[in-house]
Amino acid sequence: MDQATAIALIRRTLDHLADGTTDMLPDGHVRPVAFYTDEMQFARERALFRRLPVAIGYSAEVANPGDFITHDLSGVPLLAVRGRDGVLRGFVNACRHRGTRIEWEACGSGKRAFVCPYHAWTYRDDGALAHIPHAEGFPDVDRTTHGLVPVRIAEHCGLVWAVADPTWSGDLSAILAPLAAEVDALGLATHVPYAARRYEIAANWKLVNDSSLDSYHVRHAHRRTIASMFLDTMCVFDRFGRHQRLFLAKRTIESLRNTDPATWRIRDHGSPLYFFFPGTVVLLEPDHAQIAQMWPVSPDRTIVTGATLIPEPPTSGKARAHWDKNVQIFWGTLVEDFALMESKQSTLRAGANDHLTFGRFEHSARWFHEAVDSALADAA
Ligand code: FES
Ligand SMILES: [Fe+2]
Repeated sequence: MDQATAIALIRRTLDHLADGTTDMLPDGHVRPVAFYTDEMQFARERALFRRLPVAIGYSAEVANPGDFITHDLSGVPLLAVRGRDGVLRGFVNACRHRGTRIEWEACGSGKRAFVCPYHAWTYRDDGALAHIPHAEGFPDVDRTTHGLVPVRIAEHCGLVWAVADPTWSGDLSAILAPLAAEVDALGLATHVPYAARRYEIAANWKLVNDSSLDSYHVRHAHRRTIASMFLDTMCVFDRFGRHQRLFLAKRTIESLRNTDPATWRIRDHGSPLYFFFPGTVVLLEPDHAQIAQMWPVSPDRTIVTGATLIPEPPTSGKARAHWDKNVQIFWGTLVEDFALMESKQSTLRAGANDHLTFGRFEHSARWFHEAVDSALADAA
C-alpha cells in the first residue's frame, strides 16, 4: 500500500470520527437462509474453488529449485514445484498411468524428479514424463502428451496461487490485481510462514466472511480479546471487483489528527484487511501479516487454514515469544468468531429464521454475497 492510499484511508476514518459516522450503504439487505443450507447452492459454490485463484501455499516454501508443495483443499489434488530453471510450475498431483498421487508429502525440497509410488513412472521437475519402467508394455503411450497435467499458477502477497481446474486458461494475476499489487509492494514475498493453523468448523463457508469482516461485532464478540484496541463499528470498506479491502481502525488513530500525514504509519493505527474472493484473507499487522483461508467442505462444514507471515524465522526465545503472542491474539479472536458461526449455523439448520438481516454498515457481507451471485452467474 502506498502512502497516498494509507493517508486516504486514515482521513476517511478521522472524518467519520469527527462527524460521528461510519462507512455505510443507503440501506441494509437480507439473505434467505437457504443461501447457507441448500445442497445445490453449496455444490455450485464449491465448484467456484476449482475455477478461481486460491492460495495453495507460501512463496517461502518454494523459494529454491527442488522445493515443492502439495495441496488438497480446492477439490483437485495439486502439486507445485520450483524447477531447476527457477520457474514455479503447478500440476495436478496425479500419475498419468493409473492416477496414483505422485507426491504424498505436504512439502519438501531437493526434488529433481517425481517417481510414482505405484509403478515408478517418473516425471521431471517440469512435469515431462521421463521414464516408464518396462516401456515395451506401453507402445501406444506418447510420452510428450503424458506429462503431468499443468495448472495456472502465480505468486502474490507471499502466497502461491493456483486455479485448480487444468482446463482453465485465464490470466490468474489479472484476477487478483489491483489488490495483489498493493500487497505485493509490501514485500511479503520473502516472509516465512510461522505457526500454521487448521480448524474444521461446523458452519457454512460464507459465514466465515459474514461473521468476521465487519467492525460491528468487535465490541461484543471480542470483548475478551481485541475490543479494547479497536474503535466500535468503525471501518472503511472498498470493493475491487469481487475482492475487498477493509481498514479496521484502532483507537490510537485519533492521535494522528493535526499531525503531518507524511509521518502516518497506517499499520500502527489499524489493520488493513484484504479479502480475495472467494476465500483468502490477508490481514496486515505492524510487522507481519496474518493469512486465513476458508475451504468449503459441505453446506455446514468448513476448513479454515492459515499462518502468520513473518520477516524471518525466529532465532531467539524473545522473537518466538513476540510472534507467539501475535499468533495467539489472531487465532484466539477467530476462534471466538468460529463459535458464533457454529451457533448461527445451528439455528439456520433448525429453521429458526427464514432470512438473515444485514445492516447498512455490514456491507462487506453484502458485497461478498453479490460476488457469489455474480461468480455463479458467470459459471452457469
Ligand atoms: S499409477 Fe503411477 S506408475 Fe502406475
Ligand atoms: Fe471477529
